[in-house]
Amino acid sequence: MTWTGKRVLVTGGLGFLGSNLTRALVAEGATVRVLDALLDLYGGNRFNLEGVDAQVFVGDIRDADVVSRAVEGVDVVFHIAAQTSHVDSMSDPYTDLDMNCRGNLIVLDAVRRQGARLVYAGTRGQYGRLAYVPVDEKHPSNPTDIYGIHKQAAEQQCFLWGRVHGFPVTSLRINNTYGPRHQMKHGKYGILNWFIRLAMENRPITVYEPGQQLRDYNYIDDVTEAFLLAGSRNEAVGEAFNLGSGSSIRFVDLVDEIVKAAGTGKRVMIPWPKDREVIEVGDYLADISKIEQFLGWRPRVGLEDGLARTVAFYQAHQEEYWS
Ligand SMILES: NC(=O)c1ccc[n+]([C@@H]2O[C@H](COP(=O)([O-])OP(=O)(O)OC[C@H]3O[C@@H](n4cnc5c(N)ncnc54)[C@H](O)[C@@H]3O)[C@@H](O)[C@H]2O)c1
Repeated sequence: MTWTGKRVLVTGGLGFLGSNLTRALVAEGATVRVLDALLDLYGGNRFNLEGVDAQVFVGDIRDADVVSRAVEGVDVVFHIAAQTSHVDSMSDPYTDLDMNCRGNLIVLDAVRRQGARLVYAGTRGQYGRLAYVPVDEKHPSNPTDIYGIHKQAAEQQCFLWGRVHGFPVTSLRINNTYGPRHQMKHGKYGILNWFIRLAMENRPITVYEPGQQLRDYNYIDDVTEAFLLAGSRNEAVGEAFNLGSGSSIRFVDLVDEIVKAAGTGKRVMIPWPKDREVIEVGDYLADISKIEQFLGWRPRVGLEDGLARTVAFYQAHQEEYWS
């Protein structure tokens, strides 16, 4: 399938993943609509789509009227808008439920009426603490926080509604992602991006000791490419796919790489705070053989290259992201 002439909706399209995807879709010839509530604390930022020919609806996925209007006439919906903070999901579980499950059902019902194709933005958090690494898509779901539980429930809502009502669904279980157009105002989520800001400002970067847990990161362009394949290839329909880099790095080493890329900043080790320790998932490494086999996707941007590109982007556009 080519994107030329396709009509697409991206929920959360002013945020990090959504805006990078919107830019790629427009470049590929799609007609793109974006639905985003521009909520405080989240990554919505009008600058993310500056100069991009996309129609923006400012509205909430929990508002059935605006969702209906946004979905009307589209061929493919990328449902990316969500409550994204693991920590906030534990202090305010009802908001997480409202956005990530009830809001998801509102989007699904509009997709059902339209008969559009759906790609859902899932998360590695659906697995929780791993029984084995690398984690494949058959690993049991055992989330360590409310966010992971609701994202898992929402993915199941998507597959169920698609099966019962006959529309195509794909889920990407997205890994930690970094790169241009992420929010850089706080470290509540997207910690790697936040650490890049701290390093660029030559501030200390605190790591919970001993920081030996394995992590797996993707550069945003690779995630965007996975979305494009998930929304266009027949082999993707009815499937959930892990994203990952194919290799892991210890958290302390990651921080040292960030400091190296920025040329400033400093790692400082501190004990684990209680609210973080209880939701910590331990080592994480994704098995990405399924998406490679089904869709031919493999990440192309390595950590050193990705960090250099990210630092260069924020050096050039700091004033749009720092406050
Ligand atoms: N970034 C990552 O590392 C990562 C990892 C795993 C999964 N994900 C998933 O990817 C998705 C997007 O993450 P992101 O990093 O781009 O976050 P982001 O905050 O940059 O983007 C989310 C966008 O959704 C919008 N939004 C939030 N709630 C909304 C609502 N109720 N109605 C309408 N718009 C709303 C926000 O304004 C924001 O622009 C989420 O579903 C998240 O669970 C992200």
